[in-house]
Amino acid sequence: MNILLTGGLGYIGSHVAVVLTEAGHQVTILDNLCNCKIEVLDRLEKILGRAPAFFKGDVRDQALVESILKEKQINSVIHFAGLKAVGESVQEPLMYYDNNVGGTISLLKAMKNCEIKTIVFSSSASVYGIPVYLPYDEEHPTRPQSPYGKSKLQVEEILKDLSDSDPEWKVVALRYFNPVGAHDSGLIGEDPAGVPNNLIPYVAQVAIGKLEKLKIFGDDYDTPNGTGVRDYIHVMDLAEGHNSALLYVSENTGFSVFNLGTGNGYSVYEVVDAFTSASSRKIPYEIVDRRGGDIASYYANAQKAKKFLGWSAKRGLLQMCIDAWKWAVLH
Ligand code: NAD
Ligand code: WQD
Repeated sequence: MNILLTGGLGYIGSHVAVVLTEAGHQVTILDNLCNCKIEVLDRLEKILGRAPAFFKGDVRDQALVESILKEKQINSVIHFAGLKAVGESVQEPLMYYDNNVGGTISLLKAMKNCEIKTIVFSSSASVYGIPVYLPYDEEHPTRPQSPYGKSKLQVEEILKDLSDSDPEWKVVALRYFNPVGAHDSGLIGEDPAGVPNNLIPYVAQVAIGKLEKLKIFGDDYDTPNGTGVRDYIHVMDLAEGHNSALLYVSENTGFSVFNLGTGNGYSVYEVVDAFTSASSRKIPYEIVDRRGGDIASYYANAQKAKKFLGWSAKRGLLQMCIDAWKWAVLH
């Protein structure tokens, strides 16, 4: 199949580009480079032996997207392009709604004009909000707490309305939990600008000596050891989940939503221990106040993806840390 990856030079998209190319698909990437580096393209070439087709541009440029869809005879789109920093979305909600919601509407209009009606969308576990029960299954109420999470839910609703309006649409929304780790070549991985917000990139920079110590945001949560619990998922497992979702969506009309998580929750202390083993480095830390907006614990019920996509995550926390460490050392 000919597949367009919007935002395909970013963290998750680049790993999906590897998996899909290795599965025999023709991958085309559209990215405006607002949160990635063009070097990723060379690194993809090193891993794959050839670089995917690449267009620098914005997903909100409908004419450009239509020309790419036609030129590359695209069959399906995987839509990663968007902004993802929860805190920033609280400061700059218009920027988030414009890019994440406006960008998707523009993309869908281009797809409709070109009669391409198959799309996989990068949604997020943040659509669920404060847990009413755990693990979150796909039926859990959706009450996102930030403009970022709301933008993801709004896009899901738009996709549902679109598929209700025209039964030819084939739509899957994937709700990712906490993607971490890197390709085992160490050539691609998560490359946040400035001081990382997320736990594993921060821990990696402490282990390598770029940052002095980890600040653990609270050890008094109602969790087994008091630190926050999350469902970390290896980015290569997540990428393989996209290959399964692509097969599913090409055979099923309508709108479906799937959690992509492991079903296991790990605490901050468990992550620190696993990263210490993976890196053989000391990770100094201190306990500080809770971070505003954090939830004590959340993790996925991953059964629906297993049943309908035939996919489940295979790599454990130690492997996630080994690959995150390899990436931190090599890049
Ligand atoms: P990322 O920032 O690394 O990748 C997104 C890519 O999209 C970047 O390369 C960026 O340059 C590009 N982009 C942004 N806006 C664009 C636009 N208007 N036009 C063209 N390109 C644009 O992020 P990621 O971690 O790879 O996330 C990919 C998707 O998955 C995002 O939609 C994100 O919201 C979602 N998601 C990520 C996580 C996570 O923790 N990483 C969790 C849940 C969902
Ligand atoms: C994990 C745990 C922190 C940093 C975010 C988004 C979410 C999704 C994934 C896009 C928590 C603790 C962290 C640190 C710490 N993204 N922590 N010290 O907040 O679960 O999810 O990324 O959809 O929407 O909110 O991930 O990695 O920031 O935090 O103690 O320096 O680590 O309190 O318990 P989070 P995270």
